[in-house]
Order: sequence, then C-alpha cells, then structure tokens
Amino acid sequence: ISLPRPLQGPGNMLHLALRPEQFIARHTAAAPIHQVRMLGFSPYFVADPDLIDEVLVGRSKLFIKDRFTRDLSLVTGNGLLVSDGEFWRRQRRLAQPAFHRERIAGYGAVMVEHAERLASTWREGQVLDIHAAMMRLTLDIVAATLFSSGVDRAIAETIGSSLDVIMARFSDPTYAFAPWLARVPLPKNRRFHEARARIDGAMRGIIAARRASGRDEGDLLSMLLRARDDEGGGMTDEQLRDEAFILFVAGHETTALALTWTWMLLSQHPAAWDRLRAELDSVLGDRPPTLADVPALRYTDWVVHESMRLYPPAWSIGREALEDLELGGVAVPRGAQLWMFQWAAHRDARHFPRPDSFEPERWDGDLARRIPRFAYFPFGGGPRLCIGNNFALLELVLVLATLARRWRPVVRPADRPRPQFSITLRPAGGMRATLQRR
Ligand code: HEM
Repeated sequence: ISLPRPLQGPGNMLHLALRPEQFIARHTAAAPIHQVRMLGFSPYFVADPDLIDEVLVGRSKLFIKDRFTRDLSLVTGNGLLVSDGEFWRRQRRLAQPAFHRERIAGYGAVMVEHAERLASTWREGQVLDIHAAMMRLTLDIVAATLFSSGVDRAIAETIGSSLDVIMARFSDPTYAFAPWLARVPLPKNRRFHEARARIDGAMRGIIAARRASGRDEGDLLSMLLRARDDEGGGMTDEQLRDEAFILFVAGHETTALALTWTWMLLSQHPAAWDRLRAELDSVLGDRPPTLADVPALRYTDWVVHESMRLYPPAWSIGREALEDLELGGVAVPRGAQLWMFQWAAHRDARHFPRPDSFEPERWDGDLARRIPRFAYFPFGGGPRLCIGNNFALLELVLVLATLARRWRPVVRPADRPRPQFSITLRPAGGMRATLQRR
C-alpha cells in the first residue's frame, strides 16, 4: 500500500500471488470499500457487510458478473452461474422448481447410498487423498441426481474423465490474466477442446434419449426438460446442455471441498470429533442416516457451518458495475470490478469472537440472526444466491454422518495443506489422510 504509485500494481500482484491470505485480510481491513491497483486493472474491494448487501441484494440490478466469471462461459457454456440479464432470469425461473425443498429431499437416499458404497471400499490403515475421494463421491452424487440411472457406466466415465480436464482448465490462473492464450494451439488447449466435445456428445445423447422416451425419471434433468415459462416455452437442447453442465461443475467441487476441509478440521480438533461421534451414536445407533434424522443432527450441522466459515469453498464473489454509481461514499465508475471476500468476512472478530478458532458450538442459538446478512455468506445471496444451497447442505450433513459413523479419516499435522486461492478454495497438492475404523 505504501509503494510508489507505478510499483503498486506489480507489488500487489506479487503480494496476492505469494501471501493471498495476508493480502486479502490487509486490504479488506483497510476500508469498507477501496480501490486496489493491480496490473492492468484496479478492482474495488468491498469489505463492509452492509455494502456487500447493497451490491448483491439492494442494488443488484446495477451489476452483472465480473469479467473473470463471464470469461468462464468459454469453458462452461452459458449456464446459470455465468449468464446475466433477461437470459439468466428466464433460465433461473425455469430451473428453480428442480431445487424445491421437497424435490431435493428425494435425493437424500441417493446421497447416503453413494457414501455408504464408498465407506464399504475403505480399508483400515489405508492412506488416501481424501480430497480426490470426496471429489469422486460428490461427482457420483451429482451425476445420479441429474441423470438418475438412465446413464450407463461408460458414459458416466466419459463425463467424469473429461470433466477432470475441463476443471483443470477452469481453474488455470494463466487464462484469467492472459485470455488470448486460449486461442493459441497449445497441447492443453487441444486436450480441453477434445474433452469439451466428448462431454457435449455424451450430454446431447442423454438429452435426446430422454426427449424420445418422454419418461419422468424423477431426476433434475426430467425437471429441467418439463420446465415451461409463462408463454409455454421450454429450454432448447443447447440450453439444457449448458445448464446440466454448469450443475456438474458448480455442484460437485464446492461440496467436495467443504467435506475435505471438514475432515482436516475434525482431525485438528479431537473434542469436536468426539462430540460429533457422540451425536451420531445417539441419533443413529447402528444404521446409516435417513432424511428424517437430519433435524436431530444439530452438531453435525454446526460442524458444516463452522467448516465453511473458516474454509469457504467459494472464497470470493465478483461483480461489474453497469453504470457510474456511488457506494459507501466512493465513486465507482461503469465497468468497475467489485470483489467481495467470504474468506475475510468470515474471519471478522466483530462477528466471530476468536475468529481463527474452530468452534462449531458458536452456531448454537441465534448467531445467524444476530450478525449482518453478509457477515457469513458461503452461498452468496440475493437473486444470484446459490441455487443448490439446500441441496449442498443436505448432502454435507448426510455424507458426513454416513462416513463418520464408520470411519475416521485422520489428517496428520505435517499433511495439512495450505489453501490454494484458485476459483475455489482448494487444498494445495491434495490432502493425505489415514483411515481408522471406529
Ligand atoms: C451459485 C457456492 C453447491 C449450483 C453459487 C454462488 C456461490 C455458491 C457463492 C453465487 C456466486 C455469485 O453470486 O457470483 C456454493 C457452495 C456450495 C455450492 C459453497 C457447496 C458447499 C452447489 C450445488 C449446486 C450448485 C450442489 C447444484 C447442484 C449453483 C448454480 C449457481 C450457484 C447453478 C448459479 C446460480 C445463479 O446465478 O442463478 N454457488 N455452491 N451449487 N451454485 Fe452453488
């Protein structure tokens, strides 16, 4: 911050790359909103929860997604996460019924079934990358809820392996800063285009087969196919493919990360682990959980909330101003990029005493109602609130309960990864864990 002006941009970029936690903390503590010089652009950091509320809720019509998020449409197609304006509004209305609470409740059994299956493959003393295991599990769950059993194993494998390539491209930071690289015939670009074509082909096949059969399989795809707007119009095949694809991308990595960080935090805090186990023993006894158990799994729910407070899988949200405006007394010009950080808000000592300490019981009582709406926002908020938030919360509680009932994945202190601030908050280099049967 104290560097001479011409050096501020490179200095800040270097700081962000080398010490992201410190950089974000320092700049969000500096002011409720202020501009930070970077190389080639200067985003506004919006730190104050009430100003975040203005951007995401009160004046949300004055903003679209930020430049980086919009650029992702090159990778993901034009699904809900990246689309804007009237197009987004229509798609969101069409997709919303698929995520109604009762509809999601029906997926609870699928979530438990997949977690049980994974638990049965685990062996005492096995050392594994728990992040990779959680990614595979949440991918299987989203595939099963999106396409039910109507997809054969080979197609599921194609989608899974192609998605790996696409996710690598999705979070490759070089493209964010040098978008032109996408047009250079590099081997990684070729691999990406081939993977994209394979996924497109697989999805087109699934959609065509479902249209032909006309059957309601009770999955998300059937809901999206049936959805109609006020004029009676539905989604085209291309829109269906883009939405299905974005649900894959947005719906599995974030949930996997929440579970992964939770295993690390539970290894670090044996008292929390004991209390979780005691709750599972008393509520479940000797059987896997069902949907009916969820209200009684209160501590499990606090563990999930506290884990996403300290390690929010979506650690930042970005917007672009559509017109000149004023925010918190600061003039923000049209086209400005605004960044808001769950990572920083969730560690603000004004709302979370002992902010760096993992204390699930802090969620007992009315904490969520006492703090400002955007002091804790793992799923964003306002019209662009995560469409899968209830889905994710159910999945997190059910998967955690199912696995922790039978196994304890132990992450040793030496194996605790640093958080990597890519699009999502990943464990750098994965996360090694040793399995202990309970
Ligand atoms: C949007 C986080 C799970 C689908 C978002 C946003 C956040 C988020 C922060 C808003 C981004 C913004 O305002 O710019 C998370 C986290 C999850 C999770 C932390 C898990 C722990 C899921 C799941 C699904 C999903 C399970 C689907 C099955 C979406 C979609 C959007 C979205 C489609 C875009 C919604 C729109 O703009 O209309 N998510 N998400 N997410 N999420 Fe999630």
